[in-house]
Parts: sequence; C-alpha cells; structure tokens
Amino acid sequence: MGKTVKEFVTYWGPSIADWGDGPDERFTIDRDEDMLKNSNRGGRKMEKLSLDEILTPDVVTGVDMENGFLPLVLFGNEDIIIEVANCDREQGGWHRNLGADEWAFQYKGSRTLNSETGPITINEGEMTVIPRGVAHQNVGHGPNIEITIYSRKTLQRLCPLDVEKARARMKMKDGKPVVPPVKLDTKIED
Ligand SMILES: [Fe+2]
Repeated sequence: MGKTVKEFVTYWGPSIADWGDGPDERFTIDRDEDMLKNSNRGGRKMEKLSLDEILTPDVVTGVDMENGFLPLVLFGNEDIIIEVANCDREQGGWHRNLGADEWAFQYKGSRTLNSETGPITINEGEMTVIPRGVAHQNVGHGPNIEITIYSRKTLQRLCPLDVEKARARMKMKDGKPVVPPVKLDTKIED
C-alpha cells in the first residue's frame, strides 16, 4: 500500500463544464499512489517530442514558400491540427486559411503577424487567433518558435483581456470556483 492521494475525475474541459449536476459532473476518489504509478494500465502510452532537438538552426520554416521547410505537424484529429513553425524573418508570402481558425502561440522569441485586419506582434508567452478567412503573413524577429492549433470550429475567446478579471476566473474556494465557470455561451466582459 502506498500513500492515499486524491484523484479528480473530469470529462471534457475540466474547467468548463464539469461543475454542474449533469452526467459530466466531476468527482473525487481516493487512490493508492503506488498503484497509480505502477499499474502500467490506462490506455495509450505517453510519449515525448522535443522541438528544440527537431528545430536545429538550419531548419527554418516559411522562408521560401516553394522550397526549404514547411511547418511540422505534431498532432491532429478531424477537429484540430497542432503544428510548429519557426520562420525567423519575413515569410515568403501571405496565406489565407478558409477551413479553420488558427490559434497562434508564441512559445519562444517574437513575431509580427501582418494581416488584413492589421498587424499584431506576439512575444514569448503571448497568443492570438487568426480568424478563418483572414489573409496573413508571419514576420519572425530572429529565431523564434510558434505553436499553431488549427480548429475547424470557430474558437471563442473565453478569457477576459483584463489580467485581473482573468485571474479572478481562476480562483477557487472550498473546492469550488468563486466565479461561475465559463461556458461556451458565457458573455465575456473584458
Ligand atoms: Fe497562418
């Protein structure tokens, strides 16, 4: 027998829909930690990919849109595709994606996204969404890495732009969120 630990069992979106009384209500059970660590069960095996090892300095995406390197597809299914790109200068062309919204997250360094709705610069740790159908071009400011998630369904921003209001959404008291959990139809006040 190992230490008894709490396991929180959630379904889709642990911070979105699991606090109500419906079939997806989250629940808590006590587990033997030794069994959790050593059972060797639980479905698919977890693996590890290293972007820093793949993206060597000579591998730069999007410079020449016909030769050179493409963004690398990391994961995907019929709803989303997750890619990595590292264009370190002005991308060799604009593009327009008619089939998906693009969630762009700057993991390292900095880039400007020129777009039909105006330019936006994202620095390390910042993100934006390029809406479906909006033509855009990446301008990397030196070496940088961007993670992109393409979503067939429209991405709704569920986080206020104001950092205090965003933090308030994260607060818990006595095992429950203080602010009612966000839902897809929640009106977000910035
Ligand atoms: Fe794009």
